[in-house]
Amino acid sequence: MTIIDQAGTFTLGDRTIRRLGYGAMQLAGAGVFGPPKDHDAAVAVLRAAIDAGVNHIDTSDFYGPHVTNRLIHEALAPYPDDLLIVTKIGARRGSDASWIPAFSPEELTQAVHDNLRNLGLDRLEVVNLRVMFDPHGPAEGSIEAPLAALAELQQQGLVRHIGLSNVTPTQIAEGRRIADIVCVQNQYNLVHRADETLIDELARDGIAYVPFFPLGGFTPLQSSILSDVARRLDATPMQVALAWLVQRAPNILLIPGTSSVEHLRENLAAAELDLSDDTLNELDRMAQRSHAVAPAAH
Ligand SMILES: NC(=O)c1ccc[n+]([C@@H]2O[C@H](COP(=O)([O-])OP(=O)(O)OC[C@H]3O[C@@H](n4cnc5c(N)ncnc54)[C@H](OP(=O)(O)O)[C@@H]3O)[C@@H](O)[C@H]2O)c1
Repeated sequence: MTIIDQAGTFTLGDRTIRRLGYGAMQLAGAGVFGPPKDHDAAVAVLRAAIDAGVNHIDTSDFYGPHVTNRLIHEALAPYPDDLLIVTKIGARRGSDASWIPAFSPEELTQAVHDNLRNLGLDRLEVVNLRVMFDPHGPAEGSIEAPLAALAELQQQGLVRHIGLSNVTPTQIAEGRRIADIVCVQNQYNLVHRADETLIDELARDGIAYVPFFPLGGFTPLQSSILSDVARRLDATPMQVALAWLVQRAPNILLIPGTSSVEHLRENLAAAELDLSDDTLNELDRMAQRSHAVAPAAH
């Protein structure tokens, strides 16, 4: 029994995992490009996550590129039996650190092989197709061709389960006609709440919703409401933001990112926090008040 068991579990595909997991993107260098500032510290974060009971890690080969996957392999292989590594494909990096759509069947196939090689796996358990019509947020457009290419890789046994990222409800419906979709990864947090209805619909169908930028992303959430609640509960603002997500819906899986063991432990301790209905209502005011511009998504 670990602290994070208190946040419960959810079955993603055919694997039951703890709802509090870890997102590895912050382990790459500045701008998610190049090696980490402190290699040993990055390895330590990954090992601390596993020691604390985390069995869901989110990554991509385009973080670095290749950097976070290679760190995960170095730090954690041979992997614990219960560890679920979820990756994503659909983009590549330019030499100037830019994010470039990579949606052709050839590029998607290459990305799956890159992930397999850099993670040291024979099969990827869950692969999200990261849609890039607008890199900064969901935008309409058919995903039939790239998803069919990913489904073909699934049939070849290289990919076990498929998810979607940065998608609209229309694209999810289209995707579900082509393949079994086990998770959706979109931006969502206390102030960025575009997916309210979608989350509940996915919950009804047993599909996981994995919010990226759960803490607000590169510039974590700041609000007097959040600080006041945290002070009252003897918790930190980041813990309150995560506890709110845990209580928001049973299909939400958390992948907060950090490059610090201290922040990792703080974030995982959010599992112990219980927010009353009054507090949840108070926190809802953050979304109503927010005039925040959504940060760039990757
Ligand atoms: N599908 C997509 O398009 C997409 C896009 C973005 C991210 N993701 C995935 O989602 C995961 C989570 O997103 P994210 O890491 O970008 O954003 P996040 O989890 O919302 O926030 C990460 C930021 O918060 C800081 N932080 C973390 N814990 C903290 C704490 N306890 N106190 C103060 N600051 C703290 C981190 O800095 P420190 O390093 O200093 O702790 C970092 O700057 C990523 O790791 C990635 O796996 C997916």
